[in-house]
Amino acid sequence: MTATSTPDRRHWQHWQDSWDRQQEWYMPDREERFRVMVDTVEAVTGRAPRVLDLACGTGSIAYRLLRRLPDAEVTAIDIDPLLLTIARGHFAGDERVSLVEADLTDTSWTERLPHRSYDAVVTATALHWLDTEPLARLYGDLARLLREGGVFLNADHMKDESAPRINAALLALHTRRQHEAREQGAADWAGWWREAALDPYLSRAAGERFALLGDPRQPRTAVERRDRPTTTRWHIDTLLAKGFSEARQVWCSASDALVAALR
Ligand SMILES: C[S@@+](CC[C@H](N)C(=O)[O-])C[C@H]1O[C@@H](n2cnc3c(N)ncnc32)[C@H](O)[C@@H]1O
Repeated sequence: MTATSTPDRRHWQHWQDSWDRQQEWYMPDREERFRVMVDTVEAVTGRAPRVLDLACGTGSIAYRLLRRLPDAEVTAIDIDPLLLTIARGHFAGDERVSLVEADLTDTSWTERLPHRSYDAVVTATALHWLDTEPLARLYGDLARLLREGGVFLNADHMKDESAPRINAALLALHTRRQHEAREQGAADWAGWWREAALDPYLSRAAGERFALLGDPRQPRTAVERRDRPTTTRWHIDTLLAKGFSEARQVWCSASDALVAALR
């Protein structure tokens, strides 16, 4: 395989699948989260919605949404050049999907979108990368982008701190299973990036990604303390304060929740 030929669909499907396996190592319930998310989009907006997938990565949500709702249209936005390269390869020729490169912390990010209004905005495992203040501002942007009656869905790491012993017991089980999966060869975040950077079709985008966002191939040694929201309650309260009329948790595990908010 050389980087001068054009890779076929199986190549991009391989990366789509390997991204899924890596993410599932962290979130064994990831597929269930997506199912409830797509159910809620369908329930609130019908079978042909215009959807914005925020921080789309390789397009995991768009992929599942379009399988369930083939008449939907998706704008998928992300900052990462390598993950967008996989998404572009995967969705090549699919006119229902527009891919946009932008930073959600940039105050003018909505100007890059092809539409001024959406029926649904969806996002998964992404907004925990944003600090409290830019995230609250983003929630205000989303209230303006969604049509009245439209829905926002955020699946992410969010805790219900009212039951610490239940959370700790579930976390211990999850950690034990992660160790077992590692012994059987499961890739983690750093391992996935090491593999991706070796693909000749991805190596240039890998270089751009490492220069722009840092190099994830080495496991982090020190955890930087940032001002980031951690509770489900924060998300619900902030969405209501920023112009949504209803907000509630529609799914949760010990570490994650899916919050739905109606415009
Ligand atoms: C763990 S991935 C999740 C991707 C996808 N939603 C999924 O569930 O597979 C987090 C994503 O958030 C994106 N991201 C983080 N900060 C961002 C920002 N400021 N603007 C746009 N995308 C961002 C990353 O590039 C990455 O694709």
